[in-house]
Amino acid sequence: MVKRVAQYPINELFLNRWSPRAMSGESISDEQLMTLFEAARWAPSSFNNQPWRFIYAKRTTQFWEAIFNLLVPFNQSWCKNAAVLVVVASRNTFAWNDKPARTHSFDTGSAWENLALQASLMGLVAHGMEGFDYEKARIELKIPENYTIEAMLAIGKPGKKEDLPKELQEREEKSDRNPVASFIFEGMFKEVK
Ligand SMILES: Cc1cc2nc3c(=O)[nH]c(=O)nc-3n(C[C@H](O)[C@H](O)[C@H](O)COP(=O)(O)O)c2cc1C
Repeated sequence: MVKRVAQYPINELFLNRWSPRAMSGESISDEQLMTLFEAARWAPSSFNNQPWRFIYAKRTTQFWEAIFNLLVPFNQSWCKNAAVLVVVASRNTFAWNDKPARTHSFDTGSAWENLALQASLMGLVAHGMEGFDYEKARIELKIPENYTIEAMLAIGKPGKKEDLPKELQEREEKSDRNPVASFIFEGMFKEVK
């Protein structure tokens, strides 16, 4: 079991956020869901363009099946117990002049992390995914060409590790990180092996 340890002092919320797969299958309330999107809303973005878009389906609604079916079987095996699935997209252009917005993915990444940290603070699971059919998502959810499909999210109430398939139970733990020195460079880029 990895014990997450910060090399330098940071708030505990960064160490406490992680991506469990075990979820209980219970719903979350609309208030909880909107609080997660509210956190995303306050992310910074270049020119305050706010390019993030969240297309969501609650498990109890008619929208669930289409979004669930986008996932690869591996992700379906544990996402079946999620309360909400989300497809995250971002607008490639600025809203006011339609010129390319270079940092739209960067901005949308900030919004997702806000959501993830808020979920963690509320004791909820928020788990990012790239294991899904991006082309099918564009067609099924009618996402226009000037939006990039970034990722999917599984959101839910925490569940029991024992309810996961055996091979996933072994992977259900917090991961570690590379040391700070491996990704910061004073003054000039350096390739780190
Ligand atoms: C954009 C993105 C895509 C990911 N795709 C998947 C995925 O398809 N399936 C999965 O089980 N986990 C996926 N993950 C979870 C990562 O494996 C996990 O975030 C990473 O190992 C770090 O662990 P932590 O989030 O628990 O700190 C994804 C995470 C992100 C941010």
